[in-house]
Amino acid sequence: MTPVAWEQACLEEVCGSCTMRVNGRVRQACSGLIDRVAPMVNGSSKLLLEPMSKFPVVRDLCVDRSKMFENLQKIQGWIPIDGTYDLGPGPRMSQKQQELAYDFARCMSCGSCLEACPQVNEHSNFIGPAAIGQVRLFNSHPTGKLNADERLEAISGNDGIASCGNAQNCVQVCPKEIPLTRAIAELHRDTTVYRVKKWLGM
Ligand code: SF4
Ligand code: FES
Repeated sequence: MTPVAWEQACLEEVCGSCTMRVNGRVRQACSGLIDRVAPMVNGSSKLLLEPMSKFPVVRDLCVDRSKMFENLQKIQGWIPIDGTYDLGPGPRMSQKQQELAYDFARCMSCGSCLEACPQVNEHSNFIGPAAIGQVRLFNSHPTGKLNADERLEAISGNDGIASCGNAQNCVQVCPKEIPLTRAIAELHRDTTVYRVKKWLGM
């Protein structure tokens, strides 16, 4: 019999490639301890493995998470550099800024938050919480701020932050405990200011 196809790389909840639904809950298969995800009841336990439902299935438990990476392209999820020569030490960040940045930098594009979000469905192109978290990360970086407006523009349309329905499922399932609802709340404010300024031609 052909074995079931599934993906894995790191086996330590860092790459996100093994993300699937285990007994109905999205999680990383590599870190789901069997006695917790499928506890014994009357001497037996049931384990139901399903692929994520918000991504195209490639085969069995493997899905195509390309849209996670396309969304990062949309929001310019990087710090641009203007060459590869040594520019010396970058701008300083306070300890508090670094700690907050680290919270968001732990995203592994696993897709769990999109899987759990009711606003991500066949009728919508909502960009989803992960990309919004990365806007928060890069817009708070001293150099990343230079492209803050482009990122705010990217999440200001109909498929952007306005599509969030405040279900707050994303923070419940994120394995890295990224403060996604905080990012969404702060970026609601930032996109509003950005749009008002744009309307006033400022
Ligand atoms: S924000 Fe959390 S749940 Fe969403 S893709 Fe990143 S690590 Fe996964
Ligand atoms: S194999 Fe990388 S997160 Fe599970």
